[in-house]
Amino acid sequence: MILAQVEKNRKSVSLQLNSETKSELGQFFTPSAIASFMASLFNVNGEKKINILDAGAGVGSLSAALLDRLAAYPLEKIDLTAYELDKHLLPHLKANLDRYQRFFDEDFQIAFSLDLEGKDFIVDSVLRYFSNTAKSFDFAILNPPYKKINSDSAHRRLLRKMRIETVNLYPAFVALALKLLKSGGQVVAIIPRSFCNGSYYKSFRQFLLREASIEQIHLFEARDKAFGEDGVLQENLIIHLSKHGKQGDVTISTSLDGNFTGLKEWNVPFNEVVRSDDPELFIHIPHHESDEESSIYENFRFTLEELDIQVSTGPVVDFRLKAHLLKNLESGAAPLLYPAHLDDFGVKFPLENFKKFNAIRENAETLKYLYPSGFYTVIKRFTSKEEKKRIVARVVRPDDVPGKLVGFENHLNVFHHDKLGIPEDLAFGIAAYLNASVVDTYFRQFSGHTQVNATDLRRLKYPSKKKLLELGQWAKSLNSFDQKMVDAKVETL
Ligand SMILES: C[S@@+](CC[C@H](N)C(=O)[O-])C[C@H]1O[C@@H](n2cnc3c(N)ncnc32)[C@H](O)[C@@H]1O
Repeated sequence: MILAQVEKNRKSVSLQLNSETKSELGQFFTPSAIASFMASLFNVNGEKKINILDAGAGVGSLSAALLDRLAAYPLEKIDLTAYELDKHLLPHLKANLDRYQRFFDEDFQIAFSLDLEGKDFIVDSVLRYFSNTAKSFDFAILNPPYKKINSDSAHRRLLRKMRIETVNLYPAFVALALKLLKSGGQVVAIIPRSFCNGSYYKSFRQFLLREASIEQIHLFEARDKAFGEDGVLQENLIIHLSKHGKQGDVTISTSLDGNFTGLKEWNVPFNEVVRSDDPELFIHIPHHESDEESSIYENFRFTLEELDIQVSTGPVVDFRLKAHLLKNLESGAAPLLYPAHLDDFGVKFPLENFKKFNAIRENAETLKYLYPSGFYTVIKRFTSKEEKKRIVARVVRPDDVPGKLVGFENHLNVFHHDKLGIPEDLAFGIAAYLNASVVDTYFRQFSGHTQVNATDLRRLKYPSKKKLLELGQWAKSLNSFDQKMVDAKVETL
C-alpha cells in the first residue's frame, strides 16, 4: 500500500524534474518492480537490528521497497540513513519514508529511525570516515548517480584519500558504501555495465573484488527500443555484493524487461565471471539461453577491446561536407564509400551514375575524417526490412580503392585499429563471422531495432583473435559469397 503511494509519487516527481538538474545529478528513479526485486536479494539472517544506507535516495523508492520487505521479519530495530543532494526532492523523500514510521510503530512494533541527510554523500562520508564519526551499515541499497568525475575535482581528491580511484560517480558510491559496511554487510546496486571491462574501471574492479564477493548479477535483455521508462535499463545491471564474503559460485539472472518477464536464474563458477588468468579482471556475464545463443556465448567470448580493435560510425557526414564531395575521383581527392558501394561479395568502386558521391577532396577541413588506405571490415548501418540479413559485412581492401586515403560515409560502420587498417586476415575473419546466420539471429534477439550501430557491434562477443585469423585466411580465398559455406565454417569454430 505505502509502496504504491511511493511509486505514484516517483512517477509524478520524475515528470517534474528539471532537465538540467536531471542530467547534472543523474536523476533516474527506480520503478517499484525493480526496487522490490533489488530488495528481495538481501539475505536476512536472523538479525535483530538492521542499519540501512540509501545513498542518492531520490524520493526513496529503494528504501521503501526494502522497508516493505523487512516488515515481514521479526526485527527489533531498523535505522535508515538516506542521502539526497537535491533539496527539491527532500520533502518528497521525507514524506514517503515518514509513512514507514507510522507503519512500523503501529503495526509491527519495530523501532524505526530515519536520518535524512540533505548533503553530498561523498563529501560527508569521507569527512566522517576521517573524523571517526562514520556510521557502519548492514545493508546498502543504491541507484547511484551516473556522471563523470573530473580528475581535478573535489570529489576525486576526497575519494583518493580513501584510496578509491574512479572516473565516474557510480563506482564511487558503490566503493564508499562498501567501505561503510560492516564485515558481512551487503550492497545491492543498479549500475551501468561499463565497469565490467575497460581500463578506466580496472582500479574499481580491483577494489570491488578485494573487498567483497559477487553474489548475484542480474541483466535486462531488452527486446525492443521502447524498453524502460528512460530507455536506459538495457545498459544497466543489478549487482549483489557481500563485504568480505567468501567467493563461491555467482548467481546470474536475466529478465526480458524491468517487470521481470521471463525471469531465469542459474549459477556459474566464479572463474567464468572473472577468469583467474585475466590481469584486467574483466567481469564477464555468461549467458545461457537457447542452444544457439549459448553456443555463441560459450564459443565467442571476446570483446573488441580484448581483440585490440575498435568500431566506429563512418565519420564523413555528407550533408555537412557537401562542398567537398565529388561525383568522380580526381587528383587531390580520396575515394568515398557509401553502403551502395558494397556488393554481394566486396566493394564496387566507383559507381557510375551514382546519385551520391564517389570522392571527397583532401584538404584541411576533410583530412581528419579520412582513414589511410588499408584493410577494413565495413558494416551497413541500415538494411531494408526486405533484406534477409540484418548484418551485412564486407572487406575494403587497398586495391579496391585507389590512393592513400579513403573516406567512410556515415551510413557505414568501420572496424579499425586506432583509425588505421587492420590485418587482412582479421578483416576477412570479422566479416565472415558477422555474416554468419547464427550471429545474425543472435543479433536480432538483443537488438530490437533495424539499425546496426557501432554500440551494438561493441556489445557483441567475438571469437578469439586466433580463430578470427584462421577464419579470415579461409574467407579471403573464396571467389564468391556463399551463405551456407560461411555458416558451416563458423559452426566449426
Ligand atoms: C539515479 S538517482 C536514483 C534515485 C533513487 N535512489 C532511486 O532509485 O529512485 C540518483 C540520486 O542521487 C542524487 N545525487 C546525485 N549526486 C549526489 C551526491 N553527491 N550526494 C547525494 N545524492 C546525490 C540525485 O539527486 C538523484 O536523486
